[in-house]
Amino acid sequence: MWGGRFSAGPDAIMEAINASIGYDRKMAKQDIDGSRAHAAMLAARGIISDSDAVAIREGLLTVLSEIENGTFEYSTALEDIHMNVEARLTALIGPAAGRLHTARSRNDQVATDFKLWVRGQMDAAIDGLSALMAVFVAQAEAGVDMVMPGFTHLQVAQPVTWGHHMMAYVEMFARDRSRFIDARARMNESPLGAAALAGTSFPIDRDMTAEALGFDRPSANSLDAVSDRDFALEFLTSCSICATHISRIAEELVIWSSAQFRFVTISDRFSTGSSIMPQKKNPDAAELLRAKVGRINGSLVALLTIMKGLPLAYSKDMQEDKEQVFDAADSLMLSLAALTGMVADMRPNPEPLRKAAASGFSTATDLADWLVRALNMPFRDAHHVTGALVKMAEDQGVDLHELSLAQMQSVEPKISEAVYEVLGVDNSVASRISYGGTAPAQVKMQIARWKELLK
Ligand code: ARG
Repeated sequence: MWGGRFSAGPDAIMEAINASIGYDRKMAKQDIDGSRAHAAMLAARGIISDSDAVAIREGLLTVLSEIENGTFEYSTALEDIHMNVEARLTALIGPAAGRLHTARSRNDQVATDFKLWVRGQMDAAIDGLSALMAVFVAQAEAGVDMVMPGFTHLQVAQPVTWGHHMMAYVEMFARDRSRFIDARARMNESPLGAAALAGTSFPIDRDMTAEALGFDRPSANSLDAVSDRDFALEFLTSCSICATHISRIAEELVIWSSAQFRFVTISDRFSTGSSIMPQKKNPDAAELLRAKVGRINGSLVALLTIMKGLPLAYSKDMQEDKEQVFDAADSLMLSLAALTGMVADMRPNPEPLRKAAASGFSTATDLADWLVRALNMPFRDAHHVTGALVKMAEDQGVDLHELSLAQMQSVEPKISEAVYEVLGVDNSVASRISYGGTAPAQVKMQIARWKELLK
């Protein structure tokens, strides 16, 4: 491509370090879309002839079909996807192909291709997250008043509902989705026509190519356009936070499906056996989901480090952006699909959930609140009295509701029979009617809201 200035070809090692065709072939479709838009614009502006533009645009479709049906021969000597496509176009249509690169550079070309590719993945993440949210909502609806323990410090804290716990993940993944939506809106400016870095002397129409490629507008500064990789960083950041959330539900699934907890049964479809222990059913998919965040965070840190301190405009360092983003995208899409399947299939086990919900004096806060409400006690005093009752129950190896009225009155004489009503887990969850609270009445409102939003 640049033989005019060179008398010798590159060293084999130079070729190995320089070539990106091994991975940037993933952007073949985007490269061809961009080139077809560019050729049409060049003809519309009288920069190339209509007949050359037709030959170029048709030839590019032939190249695309060769790539899609697997007959395309990639060449490492041709470095990257841009030059591989152009070389094949030249072989197919002859000298007219040489006019395609008028008024552009690989710098704006690669920025355009990569943006189109990342934008597609943002759309896939948005769809994947919507599907995931829908299965959490379905789980919530099926178990809207099923009681389970709510934890802090992984110690039983207060009873909550299965529906409430499932809906917590809907909120989390909704924020992830909105991060991809925000990033997509911010990145949707076309770099095409920025050329190498300074723009071009040809009378191009950047609005035309931007529109043809689904961008909202052309980017306003050509130096920035070719050197910006914020869209890739924002994509990776959004992937990282999302993968962090995935790792949290994955960890819960590992714990919940253990023989010690038995809170959920994970379907056979998402479990594996052991090669030596016949009784085993392992939550491997959940463990891998818990781990994926590691490599996704690695990609984010890698690209942040690659971009740090790069002078304007394009530097070849930026070629190292792609593998990070490709790997993170593959990991995230697979994780979203696997988690969606696992959550759709899993079955909560009501008995162990209820038993655990009632353990660990989980309604102690309800007792303290009752002392405040019924006896007008200051909360701090109520906390103290409740603590004494918990200690008494613990010493006797019973639960709070198993203490007799006489025993309770030995600690606080004004306690009446009515106290027993707040000590049951169903009453406990039903009483938490504050906005966003665990009461089934509240959770039902949130479910209805999300079902409407996810339609
Ligand atoms: N393969 C290159 C990349 O991914 C394309 C741009 C090359 N530009 C250049 N001036 N060498 O970054």
